[in-house]
Amino acid sequence: MRIAIIGAGTVGRGLARAATGCGHEVVIAARHPEHAAMAAQEVEARSGQTAAEAARGAEGAIVVDPTNPDEPDLSAILEARLSVAEEIAILLPDNHVVKAFNTVLGQRLTDPVVNGIRLDGFYAGDDPGAKAVVAQLIAAMGFRPLDAGALPAARALEHLAYLNINLNARKGWSWSSGRKLLGDTGEDAPRARG
Ligand SMILES: NC(=O)c1ccc[n+]([C@@H]2O[C@H](COP(=O)([O-])OP(=O)(O)OC[C@H]3O[C@@H](n4cnc5c(N)ncnc54)[C@H](OP(=O)(O)O)[C@@H]3O)[C@@H](O)[C@H]2O)c1
Repeated sequence: MRIAIIGAGTVGRGLARAATGCGHEVVIAARHPEHAAMAAQEVEARSGQTAAEAARGAEGAIVVDPTNPDEPDLSAILEARLSVAEEIAILLPDNHVVKAFNTVLGQRLTDPVVNGIRLDGFYAGDDPGAKAVVAQLIAAMGFRPLDAGALPAARALEHLAYLNINLNARKGWSWSSGRKLLGDTGEDAPRARG
């Protein structure tokens, strides 16, 4: 798959590393082209001078939104009427938008198994085909893909992220906690296979 990643920070690098590790062709862009170039060099990807250049040829592509509302006051996440993913869908009516990876802390993007337990990779979106592609990517990266529902479920996923961020910030944790629903969650046993 050809993947353009906009952002060369914690998440952009983590996703790029995970995606190239799965054999995908990755191009990275950032606000500063030199940041994108550095990240690309680290993960054996290509970089673009601008986001538009990185995404060239991606008309109609699936847009994956791993972001959370980035306000200094985290309570903005709780007060938002729409998720970021829904806002992106309004801006890009010709693309299928899938929310994914926003509940995964950066360092877990390439380290998805904790004590033998495969973390959940939640995703949400309206188009079944786009969701299936993203679910495959989530699984290839080592997470258990869990379909959270249609795109408005992205609001719940942003709240889930808020909980983890808020707890790490308030309690001084090491930003490595990840999510796993235990009990009968249908799709596989809680212990990692293989
Ligand atoms: N950090 C986490 O653990 C984590 C986990 C899940 C979700 N998230 C969410 O994911 C998003 C990114 O987080 P992060 O921690 O990776 O942030 P970050 O380390 O600050 O990186 C942000 C990246 O986005 C680039 N960028 C910003 N505006 C841009 C623009 N207009 N065009 C192109 N590139 C642009 C920046 O470019 P420059 O480098 O050139 O400035 C930078 O490389 C946030 O919404 C965050 O809430 C974060």
